[in-house]
Amino acid sequence: MTAVDARPQALPGLAFPAGFRWGTATASYQIEGAAAEDGRAPSIWDTFSRTPGKVRNGDTGDIAADHYHRMSEDVALMKDLGVTDYRFSVAWPRVQPTGRGPAVQKGLDFYRRLVDELRAAGIRPVATLYHWDLPQELESPSPGGSAPGGGWPRRETAERFAEYAGIVADALGDRVATWTTLNEPWCAAFLGYASGVHAPGRTEPAASLRAAHHLNLAHGLAVRALRAALPADAEVSLTLNPHAVRALTDAEADRDAARRIDALGNRVFLDPVFHGRLPEDLVADTAGLTDWSFVRDGDLEIASERIDSLGINYYAPTVVAAGTHDGPSPWPGAEEHVRFEPAPGPRTAMDWPVDADGLYELLTRLRDGLPDVPLVITENGAAYDDYADPEGAVHDPERVAYLHQHLAAVHRALAAGVDVRGYFLWSLLDNFEWAYGYSKRFGIVHVDFASQRRTPKDSARWYADVIARNGLPG
Ligand code: FCB
Repeated sequence: MTAVDARPQALPGLAFPAGFRWGTATASYQIEGAAAEDGRAPSIWDTFSRTPGKVRNGDTGDIAADHYHRMSEDVALMKDLGVTDYRFSVAWPRVQPTGRGPAVQKGLDFYRRLVDELRAAGIRPVATLYHWDLPQELESPSPGGSAPGGGWPRRETAERFAEYAGIVADALGDRVATWTTLNEPWCAAFLGYASGVHAPGRTEPAASLRAAHHLNLAHGLAVRALRAALPADAEVSLTLNPHAVRALTDAEADRDAARRIDALGNRVFLDPVFHGRLPEDLVADTAGLTDWSFVRDGDLEIASERIDSLGINYYAPTVVAAGTHDGPSPWPGAEEHVRFEPAPGPRTAMDWPVDADGLYELLTRLRDGLPDVPLVITENGAAYDDYADPEGAVHDPERVAYLHQHLAAVHRALAAGVDVRGYFLWSLLDNFEWAYGYSKRFGIVHVDFASQRRTPKDSARWYADVIARNGLPG
């Protein structure tokens, strides 16, 4: 019998399994700042955030939470929380400013210092190679103009990514045991190239499907590059944001809407990565946009390189019905078939519904549909309008409730036999929330962006207690 089979009976109360990994997560562009220091060149997010009207209040990541200069303080905060793991991302334009050519030593040195400091604090580093900060040079159209624009719709970007993965693995492979290739390729492809609400802000539905494929290819090529450079026992992973899709009713048309969104939101990545194939219904649904001839022989085999775990980011469920929605949308080809319904219940400051059942549904569904692969929750958390009171305290009871409910859902999934190995709370710090700029606070540590002062919120103390007891308080 495997350890997983033993878990449902073995869990007393709301205790988590021994060795469960408790982490926090961040991403380079959202926290680092130091945008022009030590050789870093602009990424697509630097360009996008400078484009009027794209990011709320005209905010940019130029300074962000100034983590580049306050890294030691931030690691000390995590040590106080008692986290076992920390998920950060490496900024590609810090390491390879134009996305091609030799590495910048100072860029690599920053991550080496971070990793050494984490290890000295007893915290396991978990490195993500791509959390959306593509070097701007790679987004620019190719010389000669033969390819359809640059960025992820261009095949070469996948090859460049694998080279970059090898560079980082060579530099940090002796001290980082857990690696993630991509964070949420769905957002990179469809928010970046279809709806255009994320960098690079293009609204080209056909190109977004090319982007999705090249992200799958980039992932597979990077897995190969990582395996070639890393010790045999390194853990190599991918983080997706699979959608917990619900049909509004059981009517066939609504169920078909859910099937479409499951194809475009989930199986577009899960099928290539775990089964080495494209979903047939996705190819049929998008026939009006592309014939998928950019998928070359052997690509899907590369995309399906074995990985050691799958990272899951979950915030809220997606409810759909038969209908239409206005473009430009992040759902290429579904505009005439699907409408999105607001899920009921309380909402976070993002206006996202609080619905922990969605996480349980997602985890059990993934367990049923995938080969045996351990799952890790690589992001979960909530934004609320937090502020420091006159005594300097930050009370965030709604976030504590959100976290409690979602961790209880993870616990239920464990008890149902789902192999979940860890939970990373998004986020350690308030940070640059993409198109929302600094207006949305996801941190369990409050950041006063004027002074860069850090204040652990009540939720930070609550999380420290959960970690200390390896379980939820009653
Ligand atoms: C996820 C992103 C992360 C953060 C959260 C709120 O989609 O991966 O960077 O912005 O949403």
